[in-house]
Amino acid sequence: MNLIICNDYESASKVVANMISDSIKIKPNITLGLATGSTPIGVYNELISKYNRGLISFSNVTTYNLDEYIGLPIDHKESYHSFMDRNLFNHVDIKRENIHLPSCDLNDLNNNCIEYNKMLNSTSIDLQLLGIGANGHIGFNEPGTSFEQETFIVELTNKTREDNKRFFNSIEEVPKLAITMGIKNILDSKKIILMATGENKASAVKRLFSQEVSLDFPASCLNLHNDTTIVIDKEAAKFILKNEL
Ligand code: PGA
Repeated sequence: MNLIICNDYESASKVVANMISDSIKIKPNITLGLATGSTPIGVYNELISKYNRGLISFSNVTTYNLDEYIGLPIDHKESYHSFMDRNLFNHVDIKRENIHLPSCDLNDLNNNCIEYNKMLNSTSIDLQLLGIGANGHIGFNEPGTSFEQETFIVELTNKTREDNKRFFNSIEEVPKLAITMGIKNILDSKKIILMATGENKASAVKRLFSQEVSLDFPASCLNLHNDTTIVIDKEAAKFILKNEL
């Protein structure tokens, strides 16, 4: 794994946005795997700014998102469909038909998983952007998930629901289920960038660099991938800066 340590969230966002925009310039019809959560918002802002300055176009870009909650209407402000529209898609020239997120239509959940997985298996993600949960989850692959797992319906852990309750009025409102790409889908990506910032990610970052490969810590699967770059800030690097670098 390559490691880039930046001063702060803003510079980490710029570094990741530059890596993505360079990839779009090299391959305008790139397929991107995208993430939600607080972490990538700065990256998306940078990409919008580059688009507004005429430096990149999304007109031939295709995207697949990692996951979506089950049980929220698609137009709920915390659905990942809404998140992506608000934070990126509404502000750039991406074609609607090139955007893909899991459908969480309650009538046909199992089939939605199968269909999303089929789409993923019939394409090839050039560049996958990831955040990391404090418990090491990537996408919504919670601790214990097999590294062979493909797209599935996941029960969110209490820790993840607690972490995400800041976006909702109460813990009761946080969905209990989601559809997520599996670890195997993520590892199939040609290139992976994982971004982690802030002190609350420092323990997860330390564990990521411990060389341990364990189902208990899903992000450790990235040790098995041959082109992963981790971009962190000084706060997230706190333990590895002290002990290991
Ligand atoms: P965050 O979430 O970016 O909101 O910290 C990351 C994740 O849970 O993958």
